[in-house]
Amino acid sequence: MNIVLFGAPGAGKGTQAKQLVKKYGIPQISTGDILRAAIANKTPLGLQAKELMDQGKLVSDEIVDGLVEKRLAEKDCEEGFILDGFPRTVAQAQKLDKILDRLGKKIDKVIELRVSDEEIIERITGRRVSKKTGKIYHIKYNPPVDENPEDLYQRPDDNEETVRNRLKVYKEQTAPVLDFYKAQNKVYSVGGHKEKMEEITQAIVEILEK
Ligand code: AP5
Ligand code: ZN
Repeated sequence: MNIVLFGAPGAGKGTQAKQLVKKYGIPQISTGDILRAAIANKTPLGLQAKELMDQGKLVSDEIVDGLVEKRLAEKDCEEGFILDGFPRTVAQAQKLDKILDRLGKKIDKVIELRVSDEEIIERITGRRVSKKTGKIYHIKYNPPVDENPEDLYQRPDDNEETVRNRLKVYKEQTAPVLDFYKAQNKVYSVGGHKEKMEEITQAIVEILEK
């Protein structure tokens, strides 16, 4: 099962991807997580990406395409994968089709998580992530339990000003990717507004198993 989890910043891609990893045993490929790991390891790529990410701008297509191409060729992707945060431009989507073609694979379904702008701002400014486990929390909607407060961090791009910029970038550069997949009849939308996280997972599972 080869899936793209699609949606604006804070729509719940990471949260839902982690549930699907547990259920289906296929890996989550988050370009945001890969880039944040490169920043933490102070690699040249990380240093290049950091400034753009902190401003809420996209990293270049060449960089992320290369990261994804390498990751998709790994053995644990053979049974399927969940793309989270990629593709984010139409050029990335076109490149992804070429990469998958070479691997004899294709995207089966694109799940769009729909959430309003106001909800997104609230979600992102309240997000906390565990440094140790990568678990995603929200101070109000999914408060951390059994976590040492020192292990929780707030992403540098999770302030209101940067979120507004990320939303603008999403509307201008990323939303057109949906039309690309609609033309292939692969898009399924799930309302992510004010519903319980488990109910959203259930709705995604129903789509995947249809
Ligand atoms: P990335 O890491 O992909 O960030 P994003 O797309 O902005 O998405 P987020 O991770 O902020 O949100 P999410 O949808 O995963 O939501 P989450 O589950 O955490 O990218 C970061 C940056 O990297 C980009 O800006 C860009 O610079 C660069 N980049 C990455 N990929 C790239 C690419 N392909 N090309 C170019 N550049 C790229 O949930 C958010 C919060 O909401 C959490 O607190 C969670 O607990 C809460 N929540 C989740 N679901 C619910 C619910 N149902 N109800 C209430 N609260 C909820
Ligand atoms: Zn995420």
